[in-house]
Amino acid sequence: MKVTVVGAGAVGASCAEYIAIKNFASEVVLLDIKEGFAEGKAMDLMQTASLNGFDTKITGVTSDYSKTADSDICVITSGIPRKPGMTREELIGINAGIVKDVSSNLVKHSPKTIIIVVSNPMDTMAYLVHKTSGLPKNRIIGMGGALDSARFKYRLAEALGAPISDVDGMVIGGHSDTGMVPLTRLASRNSVPVSKFISEARLNQVMEDTKVGGATLTKLLGTSAWYAPGAAVSALVHAIACDQKKMFPCSVMLDGEYGIKDICIGAPVILGRNGIEKIVELELNDAEKANMKESAEGVRAVNNLLEL
Ligand code: LAC
Repeated sequence: MKVTVVGAGAVGASCAEYIAIKNFASEVVLLDIKEGFAEGKAMDLMQTASLNGFDTKITGVTSDYSKTADSDICVITSGIPRKPGMTREELIGINAGIVKDVSSNLVKHSPKTIIIVVSNPMDTMAYLVHKTSGLPKNRIIGMGGALDSARFKYRLAEALGAPISDVDGMVIGGHSDTGMVPLTRLASRNSVPVSKFISEARLNQVMEDTKVGGATLTKLLGTSAWYAPGAAVSALVHAIACDQKKMFPCSVMLDGEYGIKDICIGAPVILGRNGIEKIVELELNDAEKANMKESAEGVRAVNNLLEL
């Protein structure tokens, strides 16, 4: 199993690190445009191998896509991250050109690859890859919902005073401050609806804190977060590599599911060796449907800024 991660910045390097620590991939190639940067990160990570007990070989390359050839999975983290006060959508101008270029280089050397898009605005970048790469739709996956759901579970656990392992919950919709749809109705503590334990007002607070999860961290860190994004990507890569058939909300090209067509947006999917093996359609209530529709309109408005 060969995995390429493009962009050796904080998210890309964390992603490579978590993949290596889980020890399921034979090789991870880290690629960056900054001379020597990916090589340095790869060497530093390889020097953790004997300490962390993994055999995954991590190599770093500067812009040499021939070294990524025959990757089973490619992760695109390239582009600029947001600064405090910026929305993910404001990154579109610079990141669209980068993502288009990176995906075409990846597909040239790995025509059978599955691509995971992380660069922001992520739903629109995943859409761009759909429109320009020629890959089938099951092989293009946007990473947002897995991260947003992890942040949701963190906030739920905090509100419940419970360990995170007691909590389950999912966020669908767009990966943006206004587009996320945390499914509070379905969130549970050991299968008991969380509304049994916390008030509606507290649950609404959890929902609002979840939606601005990335922005909160960007304000604290001065740039966007990396540990949870890296861990979320590695969980998706693991599910695909090991054919786990695990369910994650991912940004996926919809064709009528949830009443939505021709955009990529977060919906639950089953991930296995073929990438997206199934889109799971949940029975949403009227309020959730309305939120999903509004979220889709927001994503479509950003997609319309693309020059395809
Ligand atoms: C975040 C970025 C990865 O939410 O979109 O932290």
